[in-house]
Amino acid sequence: MLDIEVIRADFPILDRVLPNGKNLVYFDNAATSQKPQCVIDAMSNFYENYNSNAHRSNHTLADEASSALENARNQISNFFGAKPENMIYTSGATEAINLVSYGWAKNNLDNGDVIVITEMEHHADIVPWQELSKEKGVEVRYVPINNETFMLDMEAFEIALEGAALVCVTHTSNVLGIRNPIEEIIKMSKENNCKVLIDCAQGAPHEKINFEELGADFLAISAHKMAGPTGIGCLLTSNERIQEMGPFMTGGSMIKKVTTDGSTFKDGHAMFETGTPRIAEAIGWGAAVEWLGQFKMEDIHNHVHDIAAFAGKEMTKIPGIKIFGDPTNKDSSGAVSFLHDTIQSQDLALLLDQGGYAVRTGHHCAQPLMDALGVPSTNRASFWIYNTREEVEGFITHLKYICERFA
Ligand SMILES: Cc1ncc(COP(=O)(O)O)c(C=O)c1O
Repeated sequence: MLDIEVIRADFPILDRVLPNGKNLVYFDNAATSQKPQCVIDAMSNFYENYNSNAHRSNHTLADEASSALENARNQISNFFGAKPENMIYTSGATEAINLVSYGWAKNNLDNGDVIVITEMEHHADIVPWQELSKEKGVEVRYVPINNETFMLDMEAFEIALEGAALVCVTHTSNVLGIRNPIEEIIKMSKENNCKVLIDCAQGAPHEKINFEELGADFLAISAHKMAGPTGIGCLLTSNERIQEMGPFMTGGSMIKKVTTDGSTFKDGHAMFETGTPRIAEAIGWGAAVEWLGQFKMEDIHNHVHDIAAFAGKEMTKIPGIKIFGDPTNKDSSGAVSFLHDTIQSQDLALLLDQGGYAVRTGHHCAQPLMDALGVPSTNRASFWIYNTREEVEGFITHLKYICERFA
């Protein structure tokens, strides 16, 4: 069982009072989570005491920075059930997916090869494939969602798999909160000889992700949605796939030798990490996984699911509110997307903000999904480990008031 009050005490920002005197109620966790004090301290400690570049100079601070960077890689890869050499630091899930597109797919797929994605992908898992299609002539197939259940249409997925080379699917939709059957998706893809990329940006904060057990070829992860800092994430991939990859970005650190005639590159993950590393960010993410490691991810999921299901049930009782997704589904991740039938989504978000409630409004970087849902945008309340049922009760009261007063 989680002690939410004890957990909340780790997050200084949760005591924030907004300029209008309202207490912050942070329901925008699918955009980014808040950071516990230990993450903030780990990053400050680096800058205060051993700030230096990593893997370059030979002095005490440089050694400490290099060790901390690699120690964080060990902590993070271990958290995700992967070996350190199978983890490539990136700026986030977006860069991780671009790395698969430019580093792997560009070298291994060709004109006519098929990439299967879904209508519920974040733009980070759509645009790189569209760009690759322009460059290499690969075909991008979109698997639709079922407009009543909001789930992925698995029959359509099976048909789309026919002759495909790569499958790229989000673990959990950032809009609908729906968790895809990724184990089945990976199994079916492997049976069809397809490589698989799972976008775990939204899955990683909500359940234990184990790279080795899942058996996907690529997992893309962002730190900032799971208590870590912005600006860092990773791609987890196998030795076999790394062997097939070419460099995506080139420059310092990733080279063996540079002459005026040309350059040779390091082997393994080092080929894909160029320039000064994100040292403070890696240290912060290491602290975040250590902090998360004190809990069972299953308990986090259950807590978030309870409050999201409660929110969903109460919201559907409010006249005019429509929910996209099914927050009561036991696998749902805690993102509740909704609209009011007459109050504009932007207005609704501003009115919620006046009550202290931070939610997101817009297309959520998922415009093809908005098209499939037939709406330009939604409001989204997304919950995480530190949110409470009392906060949701306050939110429901405020939402009811807005709907009665402004509809
Ligand atoms: C499902 C999903 N994929 C990818 C991303 C991109 O993550 P980042 O912006 O951290 O690179 C997000 C961010 O919202 C997301 O929700």
